[in-house]
Amino acid sequence: MTKSDTEETEIALEETPPEATSSHDNPAIRAVAEQDIGSAIAVAGHPIHVMLVHFPIALVVCTLGIDGLYWLNGDPFWLRVGLWSTGFAFAFGLLASVAGTAELLAVPGIRVRVASWNHAIAAMTLLAVAGANWGLRLNIPDAVLPHGLLLSLLASVLTALAGWHGGKLVFDHGAGLIISTKQ
Ligand code: HEM
Repeated sequence: MTKSDTEETEIALEETPPEATSSHDNPAIRAVAEQDIGSAIAVAGHPIHVMLVHFPIALVVCTLGIDGLYWLNGDPFWLRVGLWSTGFAFAFGLLASVAGTAELLAVPGIRVRVASWNHAIAAMTLLAVAGANWGLRLNIPDAVLPHGLLLSLLASVLTALAGWHGGKLVFDHGAGLIISTKQ
């Protein structure tokens, strides 16, 4: 076997991790890999959770930028924008989480994977911080600097963590994919 053959095998193993294949030596892992993992909560073949997650991701990160602008120029306009963006980030996060939880509970191949629960825990932590960020602005608008800004920073880090684990579910494990019989 040449060096490039070895490299190609290594790349193939990274792209399709052994734990995701149904030809694994370990029967317990084969049993996991053989479970259905396609989306159950979908409209015309498009998973609803995946359609929704872009909104909380974008709004959480935008809120960090909005808080940064308020810190820079002190214009109260940014306080009002931040109140709305945190509110919508929380609301869309809730909707995405309802669809994601339904998917988790309904699809055996998703439910049985540890990666799904890692993603759900990161996402629920994010949702709690996003809700706290909105509640803070509703009740104590003056607390945006520094507490709101710090919550926005924490929410952005948690968004990256939850989003990265969600991406792993789709791209490493193939969760939520619906392969049309026409293709
Ligand atoms: C308890 C709450 C949640 C659960 C149980 C959950 C579950 C899932 C599941 C099962 C998938 C695989 C795709 C599918 O089957 O639809 C997924 C993907 C994903 N989730 Fe979540 N999710 C939750 C909340 C969130 C939230 C709040 C976000 C926003 C940060 C998020 C971001 C993502 C992303 C980015 C993907 C990958 C989508 C892609 O790359 O196409 N999830 N999630």
